[in-house]
Amino acid sequence: MRSHLCGAVNTELLDTEVVLCGWVHRRRDHGGVIFIDLRDHAGLAQIVFDPDRADIFAAAEQVRNEFVLKVTGRVRRRPEGTVNPDMPTGEVEILGTDLEILNRAATPPFQLDDKDVNEENRLKYRYIDLRRPEMQQKMRLRASIIKSLRDFLDTEAFIEVDTPMLTRATPEGARDYLVPSRVHQGQFFALPQSPQLFKQLLMMGGIDRYYQVARCFRDEDLRADRQPEFSQLDIEMSFINEEDIMGLMEQMMIKLFDELQGVDLGTEFPRMTWHEAMHRYGSDKPDLRIPLELVELSDELKSIEFKVFAEPANSASGRVAALKVPGGNSLTRKEIDGYTEFVGRYGAKGLAYIKCNEVSKGRDGLQSPIVKFFDDEALAAVIKKTGAADGDLIFFGADKTPVVNDALGALRVKVGHDLNLLTHEWAPLWVVDFPMFEYDEREKRWQALHHPFTAPSVDSPDALRDNPGECLSRAYDMVLNGTELGGGSIRIHTTEMQSMALEVLGIGAEEAEEKFGFLLNALRYGAPPHGGIAFGLDRLVMLMTGSSSIRDVMAFPKTQSAACLLTSAPGTVSDAQMRELGIRRRARETES
Ligand code: AMO
Ligand code: AMP
Repeated sequence: MRSHLCGAVNTELLDTEVVLCGWVHRRRDHGGVIFIDLRDHAGLAQIVFDPDRADIFAAAEQVRNEFVLKVTGRVRRRPEGTVNPDMPTGEVEILGTDLEILNRAATPPFQLDDKDVNEENRLKYRYIDLRRPEMQQKMRLRASIIKSLRDFLDTEAFIEVDTPMLTRATPEGARDYLVPSRVHQGQFFALPQSPQLFKQLLMMGGIDRYYQVARCFRDEDLRADRQPEFSQLDIEMSFINEEDIMGLMEQMMIKLFDELQGVDLGTEFPRMTWHEAMHRYGSDKPDLRIPLELVELSDELKSIEFKVFAEPANSASGRVAALKVPGGNSLTRKEIDGYTEFVGRYGAKGLAYIKCNEVSKGRDGLQSPIVKFFDDEALAAVIKKTGAADGDLIFFGADKTPVVNDALGALRVKVGHDLNLLTHEWAPLWVVDFPMFEYDEREKRWQALHHPFTAPSVDSPDALRDNPGECLSRAYDMVLNGTELGGGSIRIHTTEMQSMALEVLGIGAEEAEEKFGFLLNALRYGAPPHGGIAFGLDRLVMLMTGSSSIRDVMAFPKTQSAACLLTSAPGTVSDAQMRELGIRRRARETES
């Protein structure tokens, strides 16, 4: 139907006839001349209709925003003074000689160039939202990213294999989305939280190197970087160790960023142990663009009079740490109150601080609600260890270690952004040596930090059983700018170790057989050592497009409350369908 894309019309086409198709971006009447900016995914072209062709002019007059047109015309130079250097097509215009209205459009619910359309409207009318140049760019970059990743993996002898959507639960720490079986009444499939077990079975099947752009489903609390349905670049390899896979995945990311963004991510990503990350940054996904670190003060403040600090300083499960903010002295009372409220969301009971006016004056040069509780020695130790200078501000966190880490870790990121402290644009790293398990105080049992198929760093099942709390795992996370981009591990490949890992998690032999019997069995028939990783594709695209939410890089995302505003899903089903599935609706507990 068309000869060129609207966005591709340029001076090379002067005096030629073109046929363009697209949407009316804007129509302007200028004293007898009508201008239409016609838009397609490639850009805008300016079309001019003169009144001397009465029939075409009349058609042009009818045209409204978002009408779909086919326009024939001759390309000419824009008159002197009307050239638009900001537009790729800004030197030319098309004198319209024919106009066909392919389709009319109702008045759109929002203007495409309005920057403040609320997200609800954007999601409800996603097909209009997707026409916006920003969304076009994001969708196209997303496709290029996936292509680059596929090309790399194809070159490295990986093959793409599909795994089932209707399957058994795969424990990745979220709730399952369930699908009732009509044939087997009372039984349910689970949609995969990840292809984890299938990709391990593929290694046992001799596939050697697998990947898949895989859809995953997790019924969990949603945030800006979480969706109930999302895509992973899922990878698994046989006969490898941690270094092999981390090295290869690094190369893949370096190539991707070089190819698509012209960004140099270096030759190797830094590696940091989980313990060091928690200690220095209060987070297992530290944003290394921010040049602030937590300073441990537990030893220095053991004998301080202030109970709020002394108690956690003396407790094995507590921590007292500081965050020095260079130049932070200029923060106002209101700003400090704001930060206090902010850390409260992470469970902190307060946010003590010291403003350093003149450090050389000792106590008198400091301004703070808490220095009165410090003896001179403790005060000197704090100033020395934080390296605080005149004009700096020191924040303190004192509580159970996880609370201090969460609160000061989040504060570090917030202050870093608020005060524009970011030192560079891209900061990738690997976090390694995670603990194998963490103790769930509420449920009084061990939980796997990654998933239960991750290999421990100990060789014998007995060593795992005897000391689960001390045991490290052979897992690794790739972190970029404070976002966990991907995570993986070397897997357990013997039945004995797998059974023990499940046992430590409180999954007894019978339950293990019921849920994972197929895996335990497969491990008996010659399972190769193997390992892998999965990247959150949406998160990767979010970072590469500078978007603030993964919803912006998915064509049809769900809302924060896990609903689709466009199709109104989820929806009710008929009684007949329910009956067929052997399901009866139950009144909600609260209603009954
Ligand atoms: P994990 O659970 O860490 O590992 O997931 C891998 C990556 O997927 C992304 N991700 C998400 N993205 C959007 N919305 C979500 N709800 C969501 N949840 C996770 C993250 C994360 O790093 N089977 C293992 C991988 C392996 O061991 O190979 C797994 O799924 O970027
Ligand atoms: P209070 O004695 O409760 O008034 O607290 C004195 C100062 O210590 C205030 O600035 C509080 O914000 C701060 N503070 C209280 N509890 C904590 C805590 N657990 N960690 C850090 N600072 C705290």
